[in-house]
Amino acid sequence: MSLNCTVILAAGEGTRMKTLSSKVLTKVVFKSMLERTIDAALKSDVEDVCVVTGHKSEEVRKVLDDKYETVLQSELLGTGHAVMQARDFISRHADGNVLILNGDAPLMDVETVSGALKMHTESSNSATVISASIDNPFGYGRIVRDENGKFLRIVEQKHASEEEQKICEINSGAYWFKCGDLIAALDTLLSSPEKYAHGDKKVEYYLPEVLEILMEENKNVGAFTTDNPDVVLGANDRVQLLELNEIVRHKILNAQMLNGVSIPCTDGIIIGDDVVIGKDTEILPNTIIRGKTVIGENSVIGPNTVIDDSTIGNNTHLDNVKCNCATVCDNVTVGPFVNIRPNAVVSDSVHIGNFVEIKNSNIGNGSKVPHLSYIGDTDMGSKCNIGGGTITVNYDGKKKHRTTIGNDVFVGCNTKLVAPVKLGNHSYTAAGSTLTEDVPEDSLAIARSRQVIKVNWNKNK
Ligand code: UD1
Ligand code: CA
Repeated sequence: MSLNCTVILAAGEGTRMKTLSSKVLTKVVFKSMLERTIDAALKSDVEDVCVVTGHKSEEVRKVLDDKYETVLQSELLGTGHAVMQARDFISRHADGNVLILNGDAPLMDVETVSGALKMHTESSNSATVISASIDNPFGYGRIVRDENGKFLRIVEQKHASEEEQKICEINSGAYWFKCGDLIAALDTLLSSPEKYAHGDKKVEYYLPEVLEILMEENKNVGAFTTDNPDVVLGANDRVQLLELNEIVRHKILNAQMLNGVSIPCTDGIIIGDDVVIGKDTEILPNTIIRGKTVIGENSVIGPNTVIDDSTIGNNTHLDNVKCNCATVCDNVTVGPFVNIRPNAVVSDSVHIGNFVEIKNSNIGNGSKVPHLSYIGDTDMGSKCNIGGGTITVNYDGKKKHRTTIGNDVFVGCNTKLVAPVKLGNHSYTAAGSTLTEDVPEDSLAIARSRQVIKVNWNKNK
């Protein structure tokens, strides 16, 4: 069993994000920055998670949904102080290593975290900081090394000399520490007014300074340089958030394409991390696919289609469709302009045409609902033909009722089916009928007033 754990720093306010909630809860491709950071940790060799909350801690805890331990940092006194709040958690893993991550750096990946852990254990390091070389290091802590490339310390932007400011290797804010060594060093960490005699007035404890303390004790400290500098990127405002979204969006689309999914143009296509799509399926522009959606092979999805938490089969075409919490089986054509709502099951070889809404209903094999219909709370058999304008009248003002349609039923145009009502197998309804009573098998139901002709009515009026 692994003894490693992770502490995620998520207490900061992030003023520039201008959010009513917490910055770490802003989303990158449908998932909060915080959840993405936790995912990166869990995919590597980590057993236990502790999140340091502070600003909007209630909201952060709600998103975490009791899945992970949290500690409260009630005063925001810096990254070192944030880690101090997790002292008990870290002590419980005293023999293992702790991974510290910034909750606002959601692109951290498992390759980097695992690579750093490998170096950390192989070199028997007390601390290993993850670094990256970037073109514009302004604002980041810089990694200072000696002439042999050995790690010396991290210097923050505001304390960096002119020479140090030229260093392009930066501190990602992610580190592996030996738990026991980190706890001991935190006890001796000075606040910035104590350390920088004439410098800062604001009391802040800098986590990077723990590395200096460990080096003074002759412990091994190293820097693991990632070859993917994207992993250090964070977002301080919504413009940077868009950059992160674009990176993650293309990463997901590329993975889908390499798995055999065709995307002839990526414009407006956003696909969530957990979506599964089969080979030879084509995704067309302006299509958003989220949640636990699974799509089969050789289907065409889009353009202009939004699918949430649904299962879509093989050889199925959704064109301008909204589909939420529903199942659409094989060889189905849907659209354009169709709304498939929760609990709809559209069986094999069904055709749903334009301007149709389906909710909480089963549509049997080979049935057709080609135009302008509302089918709600309905069980429909196979091979039915539902005329344009058919409405299931499922709500009496108080309760919802079901409509049952057998196999091979022909519903004339503009039929209203006032539920609860049953149409037997092979039955017909006349166009324009409002049905309130069941229709037996093989029968025709006519429920409309007869046409009256008044000859020469216009001439004589
Ligand atoms: C920190 C590092 C810097 C590094 C950079 C990488 C320090 C002193 N500096 O700087 O070397 O290059 O990250 O992005 O650590 N947080 C708390 N409580 C606090 C303060 C911060 O939980 O009291 C959390 C924030 O929510 C955030 C993370 O810690 O997730 C980093 O804090 P931030 O203020 O953004 O640190 P930087 O100034 O960016
Ligand atoms: Ca930051």
